[in-house]
Amino acid sequence: MQAIPTYVVTGATRGIGRAVATELAGRGFRVFAVGRSVELLQSLSEACGSRVTTVAADLCSIAGVEQLLASVPSDSEIAGLVHSAGSLVPLQPYEQINMNELAEHFRIHVGVPIELFNSLSRNRTVKRMLFIDSYSASNARLGWGAYSIVKAAAQMAARCAAQELPGTRTIRAYPGAVNTRIVDAVLASDTQTASTFASMREKGEFAEPEDVARFLVALLVDATDELIGSRDVFAYNNPGDRADVFQLTRSWSSDQTARIAAALFVFVAEAIAWFGRRAIHIIGKGLYLQTMWLVTMKRLRDGASLAGCHVLTDSLTQGIRYER
Ligand SMILES: NC(=O)c1ccc[n+]([C@@H]2O[C@H](COP(=O)([O-])OP(=O)(O)OC[C@H]3O[C@@H](n4cnc5c(N)ncnc54)[C@H](OP(=O)(O)O)[C@@H]3O)[C@@H](O)[C@H]2O)c1
Repeated sequence: MQAIPTYVVTGATRGIGRAVATELAGRGFRVFAVGRSVELLQSLSEACGSRVTTVAADLCSIAGVEQLLASVPSDSEIAGLVHSAGSLVPLQPYEQINMNELAEHFRIHVGVPIELFNSLSRNRTVKRMLFIDSYSASNARLGWGAYSIVKAAAQMAARCAAQELPGTRTIRAYPGAVNTRIVDAVLASDTQTASTFASMREKGEFAEPEDVARFLVALLVDATDELIGSRDVFAYNNPGDRADVFQLTRSWSSDQTARIAAALFVFVAEAIAWFGRRAIHIIGKGLYLQTMWLVTMKRLRDGASLAGCHVLTDSLTQGIRYER
């Protein structure tokens, strides 16, 4: 029997990572979901059932990475590794960027994806790997310096992986602005971006994590190697990319629908054939008994004695045998 494909998703307690883990589990895959919040992992597990194995681990620590390694069976194939763990990098002026805090953000956004891939791939095959990129990686915007610097490094880690890892298909995707706690933090900040974000939210311009997750999962699961190789990056808010990627999901679902319809057709045809056979049996038996009855009656009318009239008793006995 074919094994259920396995996915490892970091940042699975909240936001995009949680939605990706949920979508993967919903599509019947096995998911190792990693995050630090035990309560949120518990609620994810309750929502998704046994397909999801939760791993409570701080991936910035060696112990946390080892805990994940101990959970995912060695010598197995990982169909996809999703890097969605990320910290809230505060919006602040360049002069206030703190070296130690920046190093912490580098750890989770840049160091952890590299460390995780290297550790997991030591004795497992990693078929696909997904990095969640940000337009901030290539745009210098007032107050976004620390986040942009960290995401620029994370983007380069993804591009180097795509270049250097022939056995793993690396996917880089822009989710656009997504309604997660990153957005909440910006809205709560005392910055000009906060008012821009407030009006964007009012106009419904933020994507929901679940919608973005469908796009990311389609890329991870349904996209052919050719499609992945055809682009340097995929963007959720690019209608062309969305059309190409969701087309794959549609063909997957229409294929599934066709298979379900074919199975239903066979079932209904079998049922009709079975009832038909039963009906022919019953009608045949009725006609036979009726004929025997008429023949016997005719014989009796013609003067035969009831004792000599074996036809009726024979036919009734046959009828009983038939019933059995
Ligand atoms: N939201 C957007 O608009 C947007 C746009 C572009 C790119 N992105 C990128 O997408 C990724 C996910 O963003 P998001 O908005 O979904 O973030 P989020 O809602 O803040 O979720 C971040 C996740 O990372 C986990 N995490 C943080 N530090 C960790 C650690 N040391 N060990 C293990 N897990 C850790 C958190 O788990 P715990 O809280 O349980 O520790 C949480 O599950 C980030 O890389 C972000 O830069 C987001």
